[in-house]
Amino acid sequence: MTRKPTPAISSRTAAVIAPVLGWATSLGAVRASGCQVECDDGRTYLDFASGTATLALGHCHPAVVEAVERQVRTLVHTGGVFHHEPMVKLGEALQTVMPEGIDRFFFSNSGTEAIEGAFKLARYHTGRPAVVAFTGGFHGRTMGSVTLTSSAARYRRRYRPLVPEVVHVPFPGAFRAGTEDSAIRTSLDAIQDLFDTRLTPDEVAAFFIEPIQGEGGYTPAPKRFLEELRKLCDKHGILLVFDEVQTGFGRTGDWFAAQHFGVTPDIMAVSKAIAGGLPLGAVCARKAVMEKWEKGAHGTTFGGNPVACAAALAVIDTMKKEKVIEKARVAGKHATERLLEMKHECAVIGDVRGPGLMIGIEFVKNGREPNAELVEVVRKKCQENGLILLYCGQAHNVIRFIPPLNVKKADLDRGLDILRDSLKASL
Ligand SMILES: Cc1ncc(COP(=O)(O)O)c(C=O)c1O
Repeated sequence: MTRKPTPAISSRTAAVIAPVLGWATSLGAVRASGCQVECDDGRTYLDFASGTATLALGHCHPAVVEAVERQVRTLVHTGGVFHHEPMVKLGEALQTVMPEGIDRFFFSNSGTEAIEGAFKLARYHTGRPAVVAFTGGFHGRTMGSVTLTSSAARYRRRYRPLVPEVVHVPFPGAFRAGTEDSAIRTSLDAIQDLFDTRLTPDEVAAFFIEPIQGEGGYTPAPKRFLEELRKLCDKHGILLVFDEVQTGFGRTGDWFAAQHFGVTPDIMAVSKAIAGGLPLGAVCARKAVMEKWEKGAHGTTFGGNPVACAAALAVIDTMKKEKVIEKARVAGKHATERLLEMKHECAVIGDVRGPGLMIGIEFVKNGREPNAELVEVVRKKCQENGLILLYCGQAHNVIRFIPPLNVKKADLDRGLDILRDSLKASL
């Protein structure tokens, strides 16, 4: 369906919105449903950016809309004054999908707040100052989160001094390291060197890791590395924190990457897809960890707002009823097969990776050199042809392939066709 073009929303943005905010396109979204977005240029696009991996059920899923409408008419906000049913119900629902043992929740409004909460909980619980994060990781933009972040220097520039006692060790990305073994060895050696020369393990509160780096390039950590990290944490009484803000809620073909890898962290930070597009995040931990966070040591006015919780309940319920995760696994397998065919045909695709529908397509030139220029050309060509895709990676040379998890086969194939044709036309 096309509609009469109105003045571009993006052209009015600069007059009122802080220029610091970046936009992936100059399009203005007018209305959306599933993976179709009607824009102010009069065209309807296939949206495989999914609100940056947030719209697991697509735009405006009827169950989410209905739950929000019902909740908005009943109770909108309590701000810590009154207990409320949607928050308790959401905690109960999360207990059914979390990795074994993770059964207590602190709700926030965003991913970065979930990370801040996890950071504070880790220090509070252990009484230790230091936190270790991984190079290339993205954990958000508030001061604690941006200190953990190292996917790009621009996120940190001119904000120093950052939070003290945060150090980074190499993330074990297999494609860039050459092999999984060498990636694992490099990371574990760097941790050992850190412990030997700068920071004894008894000063470390936590390791923060994205089990699959998002912004950093859709790069999975090897399962064996996460198992070793778990052992290391257990040996030294260090908390293992998984940032599952992007990997969570079915994106990997399991509820969480923790289950995909079979490694259970002590604390998880979740957000993005949890509430179908409404702002919600959560710090998730075992009772024994959460119990030590004494009343008043942390808090929030809006976190766990009844409307956002009602939306999250609808998301979990729909994902279960419609077997969305199983469908995402099937769709992911199909997409990966087709993307591997493209890789076979085009030497510029160096790697296709990732479980479920969290697929990264890494573009290269001259062997393994990052090819960001081509990613930009292909993305633009895809947009001209009606498909919206995002990039990621420290060198901006990876396309994220992240349609909604309930994407229909016909839409998935249409998106893949557009990507293939746009790539061929860009070479
Ligand atoms: C892995 C990860 N952690 C944290 C964040 C921060 O989330 P938010 O933008 O909701 O603050 C993001 C956002 O992209 C993310 O991908």
